[in-house]
Amino acid sequence: IPENTDIKAEIRRMCREKNALIMAHYYTEGVIQELSDFVGDSLALAQKAAATDADIIVMCGVHFMGETNKILCPEKKILVPDLNASCSLAESCPADEFETFVKAHPGHTVVSYVNTTAATKALTDVVVTSGNARQIVESLPEDTPIIFGPDQNLGNYINGLTGRKMVLWNGACHVHEKFSVEKILQLKREHPAAKILAHPECKGPVISLADKVGSTAALLKYSITDDAQEFIVATESGILTEMQKSAPQKTFIPAPPDDSTCACNECNYMKLVTLEKLYNCLKYEWPSVEVEPEVAEKAVRPIQRMLEISS
Ligand code: 13P
Ligand code: SF4
Repeated sequence: IPENTDIKAEIRRMCREKNALIMAHYYTEGVIQELSDFVGDSLALAQKAAATDADIIVMCGVHFMGETNKILCPEKKILVPDLNASCSLAESCPADEFETFVKAHPGHTVVSYVNTTAATKALTDVVVTSGNARQIVESLPEDTPIIFGPDQNLGNYINGLTGRKMVLWNGACHVHEKFSVEKILQLKREHPAAKILAHPECKGPVISLADKVGSTAALLKYSITDDAQEFIVATESGILTEMQKSAPQKTFIPAPPDDSTCACNECNYMKLVTLEKLYNCLKYEWPSVEVEPEVAEKAVRPIQRMLEISS
């Protein structure tokens, strides 16, 4: 990048010139969210991709989000600033192993969390996000046997809400499973009026402490509309950018991980997206996300089914 380049202004100029749309997840750095055309949770990002008439989508998030966009918009160029931005949940569920799991449960409807690779989605009947998992599981007839993967914490939470007995894959998010019950309780003692917000990827004991459990968008909405002035937030700390921006007078406290020596409440994959990488990927239109057409053909159906049920 040439010295003295106004990177932000150049990114916006290239977007206009190339008819490109920049989308970001709430977990990316604040500077990325501020520069994006659209910031959302996984569900809103998929819905926006399906509806946009941009020629290029730059997906500032993790790889599975870029893949979902490519599957929904095969004719568009889908760029991601860093192809290494993976997801521990998607990695916990390799398609070949998931296929063995599916075959071991004949007659089961396969419900997969959106945090999966395209190849795993291709083995799936219906995709869900944290924002619509309950609605989609409840839309299936009550006696339907279901396999749910890969997040066992979200699966357990949905089983509890719906009374279903879905068979769970044993994946977990390396960020959300680290929150410490003891430290959250300590924070609650120090801030007795604070409400506790938790993402359903957290472990059951953390979820049981929460005043509100929901997707990133649902937690954000609650934090804006609820009367409380203080919140303890048990999800990736990037969401605090939008919370603080939307309610500047309120106090948001990130829930601490059990290991205080690491920044474990940050998703290292999401933080791979930097301003410089965003600039370069728009300029060179690289790296792009590609999905094998035969995989995309199978994976598009469960994603479309999700969008139809949750529209
Ligand atoms: P949301 O669907 O709530 O945005 O969550 C995505 C995610 O990766 C959570 O870790
Ligand atoms: Fe994946 Fe966890 Fe990062 Fe979300 S926070 S993208 S589930 S690794």
